[in-house]
Amino acid sequence: MSEEIRKGLVGVVADRTAISEIDPETSSLLYRGYAVEELAARCTFEEVAYLLWHGELPTRLQLLEMEGEGRAQRAMDERVRTAVDLLPTTAHPMEVLRTAVSVIGATDPYAGDRSSDYAKAVRLLSQIPPVIAYDQRRRRGLPVVPPRPDLGFVENFLHMTFGRVPAPVVVDAFRISLILYAEHSFNASTFTARVITSTLSDLYSAVVGAIGALKGPLHGGANEAVMDTLEEIGDASRTLAWLDETLAARRRVMGFGHRVYKKGDPRVPTMRAALGRLVEHYERHDVLDLYTSLERAMAERTGIAPNLDYPSGPAYHLMGFDTRLFTPLLVAARVTGWTAHVMEQAADNTLIRPLADYVGAEERHVAEHDG
Ligand code: SDX
Repeated sequence: MSEEIRKGLVGVVADRTAISEIDPETSSLLYRGYAVEELAARCTFEEVAYLLWHGELPTRLQLLEMEGEGRAQRAMDERVRTAVDLLPTTAHPMEVLRTAVSVIGATDPYAGDRSSDYAKAVRLLSQIPPVIAYDQRRRRGLPVVPPRPDLGFVENFLHMTFGRVPAPVVVDAFRISLILYAEHSFNASTFTARVITSTLSDLYSAVVGAIGALKGPLHGGANEAVMDTLEEIGDASRTLAWLDETLAARRRVMGFGHRVYKKGDPRVPTMRAALGRLVEHYERHDVLDLYTSLERAMAERTGIAPNLDYPSGPAYHLMGFDTRLFTPLLVAARVTGWTAHVMEQAADNTLIRPLADYVGAEERHVAEHDG
């Protein structure tokens, strides 16, 4: 008698974690005990990164030390740039980023040394933004913008991408998006990182695997798909007709639904408010009209609530990021959660190796094959 199969591991508790807690009943998300909306309102992204890695918010001195280590590594390594330049600008930015992280790992002499995982996490946090910024600029034929050590993490990321520091409302919306995306318990890409770590492979391999998992449109790739959807609909007056056609074809509406949250994603209100401030700043109420029309139509037709990818897509669009760069932005945030989970898995490890219920051919013999 085969065991009950839980396809997609739906509802399966695979391990314990102290990093974040998702409560679908109360639609809440805590990072190390702090509500994510409180962290988004009161903390810098670096403070949240420190919290995820160390379990406590940093003292002023601890933060300065971590920021100092990060600022020293903000320039893109020339070997990474050489590798990125080998790739066509038609390559998906997630493939570019996956390649870049491989090179960052392959050029780290301590890649296999577990004791330096925290230093690797800080290195990736610093080295991923310049790759994303360079990739967007090279696709537009623009030169590299060098890092500015006088700027904070978020301002420097935006400066390297756009060649200037945008208005405070834009910087703040980007900061909020990074905090909201930073961590989310055993989502597909994080669990991928833990599976790779459970074999005692290295942190860089775990992050490369996680990037591969996040690329899919059922996971992180949804934020770019949201923008494609809104551009396909084009105008709020066409939303209901578009949705009826989409649902009739049994296609998924990107940015809606969630495996765990069935009463709404607690990250959405905070990101939706940031989107509203961007709409006011850029005077793009057409974007908000379209956003609201699809949200209402989905509520009316399906009752399925939006997830974080729904407000973050149009927000990144208004900030000026190319749509294909949206999921790499999620990587720049989630690399903190991924590496926190890598360190937690390594600290109390058991090889992750589930069973399968075999339903293939009965035993047979080659000699019986008459080919
Ligand atoms: C992220 O896990 C995480 O924590 C991920 C994440 C994170 O921070 O790491 O939160 C980030 O990945 C958010 C999700 C981004 N993906 C999308 O927005 C893609 C669209 N969403 C769906 O594909 C879907 O909602 C999932 C995959 C996210 C969750 O699906 P489930 O829980 O596996 O539910 P299901 O696929 O079994 O759907 C149940 C029903 C189905 O109807 P029936 O086939 O039973 O008739 O709801 C329908 C689905 O068709 N449904 C949708 C839908 N989501 C579910 N119908 C239309 N559009 C959708 N978006």
